[in-house]
Amino acid sequence: MNPATAKLWAKQDQHEGDRRRLFTAVATALKAKTVLYPGSFVDIAPSFVFESVTYLDLDKRAARFFADTEGVAEIVAGNGGPARPDISFVHGDYALEHDLPEEHFDLLVSLYAGFVSEHCTHHTKIGGTLLVNPSHGDAAMASIDPRLSLTGVVLSRSGSYRIEREQLERFLIPKKEQEITVETLHASGRGIAYTTSPFAYLFTRVS
Ligand SMILES: C[S@@+](CC[C@H](N)C(=O)[O-])C[C@H]1O[C@@H](n2cnc3c(N)ncnc32)[C@H](O)[C@@H]1O
Repeated sequence: MNPATAKLWAKQDQHEGDRRRLFTAVATALKAKTVLYPGSFVDIAPSFVFESVTYLDLDKRAARFFADTEGVAEIVAGNGGPARPDISFVHGDYALEHDLPEEHFDLLVSLYAGFVSEHCTHHTKIGGTLLVNPSHGDAAMASIDPRLSLTGVVLSRSGSYRIEREQLERFLIPKKEQEITVETLHASGRGIAYTTSPFAYLFTRVS
């Protein structure tokens, strides 16, 4: 393995196994095989549990990391994934046009990478899922997107994750009264503070 690959992964996995536990909990709750992860940087933990994952990032370090296919496969295999994982990497901006198929992926991942749902939901199957955390405003963006419906949340406690499917409306109550529109979210570029905030939300694509 290229030493730069090992170094990047060590930094990404500094809370050892945390993302593996997250994606294992999500994989257990969903019947998903194909995953699109825009703004992934070098977070290859989805490949530990999902059959086929497409990563997309504009950072050059991510491009170099994924170019080390043997090193990446070694990390995946060392974390319980397949020896020859089905991994693709697109080096680019998720807000621009790509050759990625429409309505194709079972799961779209949006973690700390801006308004992924706004630009990439069209690549998700109808009936597919968006996993999104609230920190960069993308969960709020998803909550006002008519293509998406909240169907679960991911709760975290002491480093473990579980999916909750009941009484979900309580997770989208803003702490302070405010207008939430595409424009206000773009203008602030930040997440909305909710009275009860889970680690992440699961939205189903309904149209
Ligand atoms: C804070 S990191 C999060 C990485 C990973 N999602 C995680 O949770 O560990 C944000 C990543 O999103 C990428 N990113 C931000 N905007 C992007 C865009 N428009 N297109 C592609 N990648 C983008 C950055 O290059 C960076 O690697």
